[in-house]
Amino acid sequence: MTDTKISLPESEIPTHFYNIAADLPTPLPPPLHPATREPIGPEALAPIFPAGLIAQEMAQDRMIAIPDEVRAIYRLYRPSPVFRARAFEEALDTPARIYYKSEHVSPVGSHKLNTAIMQAWVNKQEGVKRLATETGAGQWGSALACACQLLGMQCMVYMVRISYDSKPYRRIMMRTYGAEVIASPSPQTHAGRAILAEHPDSPGSLGIAISEAVEDAAGRDDTKYALGSVLNHVLLHQTIIGQEAIKQMELAGEYPDILIGCHGGGSNFAGLTFPFLKDKINGSRKALRAIAVEPAGCASLTAGKREYDFGDTAGSTPLMMMHTLGHTFMPAPVHAGGLRYHGSAPLVSHLLAAGLVEAEAYHQGEVFESAVRFARCEGTIPAPESAHAIHSVARHALEAREAGEKKVILFNLSGHGIFDLAAYESYLTGKMDPMA
Ligand SMILES: Cc1ncc(COP(=O)(O)O)c(C=O)c1O
Repeated sequence: MTDTKISLPESEIPTHFYNIAADLPTPLPPPLHPATREPIGPEALAPIFPAGLIAQEMAQDRMIAIPDEVRAIYRLYRPSPVFRARAFEEALDTPARIYYKSEHVSPVGSHKLNTAIMQAWVNKQEGVKRLATETGAGQWGSALACACQLLGMQCMVYMVRISYDSKPYRRIMMRTYGAEVIASPSPQTHAGRAILAEHPDSPGSLGIAISEAVEDAAGRDDTKYALGSVLNHVLLHQTIIGQEAIKQMELAGEYPDILIGCHGGGSNFAGLTFPFLKDKINGSRKALRAIAVEPAGCASLTAGKREYDFGDTAGSTPLMMMHTLGHTFMPAPVHAGGLRYHGSAPLVSHLLAAGLVEAEAYHQGEVFESAVRFARCEGTIPAPESAHAIHSVARHALEAREAGEKKVILFNLSGHGIFDLAAYESYLTGKMDPMA
């Protein structure tokens, strides 16, 4: 029997990030200035991002070196193991072989720490003292809070109101790491005050919280803004996931037929799939499928339009060409808070339009049914976001059974759900709206 847990030594922590921009069949449409609608240059991003990250955002080099100091911090939890989900396969009675990359083993419980560490490091190199950000469910905020603390920086988090109230443990976690946390919309920014004036009980959204954090960073000399998904440099940092997974699948003697990741802004999906997609783009693995899975209540890839739109609700960010539900879209209050974003990564949108990746959307009732089944087989309780990927895996495994095909499926377990137990309780007690 092959190993259930496929590990790599620390020496196999990737030395470079993989930049898919170098291999795209057609170039990515550039971001546009919100007022002039002309392509923006690096100077337009300088008030909120450090030069090193702006350079990565626009880079065309295929491989970008990871600083040794960042690789040293990655040793806290990387390389993350790949597991074969044997008990889940048995429960599904499928001939498919199911593997998962376990990003939930990071100290904060998700893949978000991969980019948080790199972003904090680059900012620190450029003399930035404080980072401002938004967070939905709290995964990204706790990752940035942890990274800032590890690198001796301050962290300011605007947390979407609905999660601030319903997820106290993530809030406490961020404060334990020394971050300042405030509910969004907040009275502290113009953007927050404008929303509160119209909707005093607003549950908030990622788009609103982004407006607040951007405003905070633009208004202070010591502060820059950090985003946990969507942008090219964030997806770039996550490619260490797929690079490790390629080696681990080789050790298992397998090559995946189907790659699956949940999709909020696109970073964990991109992190797992982009290093593999290089082979699909160059024609050596034409049959490889990469599937992004989103909630039916916020289905930017499957129900949105690909057009230029703002990244935030107030319309202060550059316009990006992406699949979007519109920047004023108010997502259903699904438990997968990290997937409640109106847009999607321009890179993932571009690949979807080119037919190189696919997208699926599911309702939260069916997603939690698969999540509970997975937890009972494999032990790990998945984050509600990651559970979307698990539900898709289950469906493809059942399709493989019907077709009598021994498909190899690899998915990204982007985070654990230990701080999301209230969502599990609402599912287990029948209180969840299954069709949201
Ligand atoms: C565990 C987990 N998975 C996935 C996501 C979605 O983000 P992305 O699409 O950037 O991976 C989040 C966002 O907060 C998350 O916390």
